[in-house]
This record gives sequence, C-alpha cells and structure tokens, in this order.
Amino acid sequence: MNTDTLKYLKCPVCHAEGLRRDDNAVKCVNSHAFNVARQGYIDLLLKAGKRPEGDSLAMVEARARFLASGTYAPIADLICRTAIPHLRSLSVPTPVCLDLGGGTGYYLDALRLCFKSQNITPSSILGDVSIYAARRAARILTDTLVVRMDTWQQIPLVGSSVDVGIIVFAPRNAIEIARVMRDTGRLLVVTPAEDHLAGVMKLFGVVGQESNKREHLLNSLSPYFHSVESNRLRYEVTLTRDQALDVLSMGPNARHIDIEDVRSKLHALNAIVTLVDVYLDSFAPNL
Ligand SMILES: C[S@@+](CC[C@H](N)C(=O)[O-])C[C@H]1O[C@@H](n2cnc3c(N)ncnc32)[C@H](O)[C@@H]1O
Ligand SMILES: [Zn+2]
Repeated sequence: MNTDTLKYLKCPVCHAEGLRRDDNAVKCVNSHAFNVARQGYIDLLLKAGKRPEGDSLAMVEARARFLASGTYAPIADLICRTAIPHLRSLSVPTPVCLDLGGGTGYYLDALRLCFKSQNITPSSILGDVSIYAARRAARILTDTLVVRMDTWQQIPLVGSSVDVGIIVFAPRNAIEIARVMRDTGRLLVVTPAEDHLAGVMKLFGVVGQESNKREHLLNSLSPYFHSVESNRLRYEVTLTRDQALDVLSMGPNARHIDIEDVRSKLHALNAIVTLVDVYLDSFAPNL
C-alpha cells in the first residue's frame, strides 16, 4: 500500500480529508477507523445502509482469466495512448489516477506500467465494491490504494484531486466523479458499442448490448463534463471455448445464463469468432 496516497482519501463518516495508517487500519483525524484487509485493500464501505455486492467470486475469476488471455489488450493500449499525451501536457510530478469499478485492476495496472515507461510515477487508487475484486486487485497492485467503496454513494476521495479517471464497463456516478476530478483532469470511459461480442451473444441467445449505452453515458455526464475525444475500437477475435465461457461468466449476463447449457453448446465448437467493439470517450470537466 502506498501510504503517501492516503492524503487523497476522505473519511466516509465525518468527511475529514486525508487518512493515516495505524496498524491494521486507516484513521481520520476524528479517529474513525477502517480496516485494512490481509490482502491490503482498505474497506471504506459504511456498515449501515444498502451495500451492493458487485461482482461475485466466479465473475472475478472468469474476468481475471479472460483478461490474462490478452483479448482486451488493445483496449488497455488505447487507454494509455489517450492518457499519456494529456498527462505530459500537465507536467504534474505525481499525477493521481483513479479507476472506478476497477475490478481486478487490469487497466490501472497497464496504465501504471505505461506511465513508468514515460518516467511518470502516479499515485493510483482503485475503487470497487466487490470484496473479491478488491482482494485480487490489492494482491496484484501493491503500490496502489485499493479501496472498497460504493461509487453510487459519496466517493470517499478529496474533491479536485484526480488527474486521470478511468471507468471501463463500470457504473458512473456523474456528480461525484465531477467533484473528485481536478479542473484540468480527464475522464476516460469505455462502453460497449453495438457489435461488442455479438458473435458470442448470438450463439447463446444472450441479449446483446443495449445500443443506447453510450448515448446514456453522454447524457448522464453532460451537466458536468464535455467530450474532448472519442474513439471507436473494433477488431475481430477468435475465442477458445474456455474464453467464450469466461467472457459470458464475467459479464452482466452471468447471473442469467445456464452455464451447463453453454458448456454443452460450446462442446461442439472449436473456436468462436466475434468482434470486440467499444467506445473510448474522453471528457474534461465543465468549468
Ligand atoms: C463489468 S466489471 C468491470 C471491471 C473492470 N473495470 C474491468 O473492465 O476489468 C464492473 C465492476 O464494477 C464493480 N461495481 C459494480 N457496482 C459498483 C458500485 N456500486 N461501486 C463500485 N463498484 C461497483 C463490480 O464489482 C465490477 O468489478
Ligand atoms: Zn471521520
């Protein structure tokens, strides 16, 4: 855990800015204490109220296996290629990077590596509500603050602190994201486009992407952000049976699909050809 980055966190109880490490906990100035788990993540979820669970263990494991196949590496590359020129133009010595709904930390890890190759050392923070995602991300991203948080509530970060925010296939709470971004910050959002994984979805009769996902994104962010760049990334991939099963098991359809049915259908196939089709939209805060 990078304790220098704790100054960007905010107490979810009294909203005091900056936390400090104290044994197996982090504390605010008013002594509200939050557990640091054995794996190294900080739990800033409030005990009271409705707590969403986020991704299950099976979903997180499927996601980790699928991402390790490199199928989505071009998405990570595009995020890096978009973020780096912006950071170079800011010339901030230690930029703050935030990955919301960051899951296993795949994209934040790629971004950190890419920064390092440019001699930029970021302070990075990953927020996710899933205990399984937080455990896994904290084990891998040892110099990142991995924080269990519900991004639909108040994001437990100091206002105007983030230089680069990324959100990849994850929920977006526009007003809170706007609060934590610096005026000069950039928010990079990846959403599925119309043909994303269509070959897999069709095969299993799973409902495809809502074609209005990006429109919804643009509408929800427009009171706080304006678009500065937009890219559509489309490429064909050939998935093995295991990869097709993982991509179905890690996504929003995971709770509705009959895994055994999918397994038996996949048995008859050698490979599944499909498209990866996503948008990467880059936003700047409205001033
Ligand atoms: C589709 S996954 C994407 C994970 C990661 N961005 C990636 O692409 O590898 C969505 C992630 O958002 C998290 N999530 C869902 N609801 C959330 C919430 N209210 N607050 C924080 N994270 C949430 C899930 O636990 C999951 O890790
Ligand atoms: Zn407090």
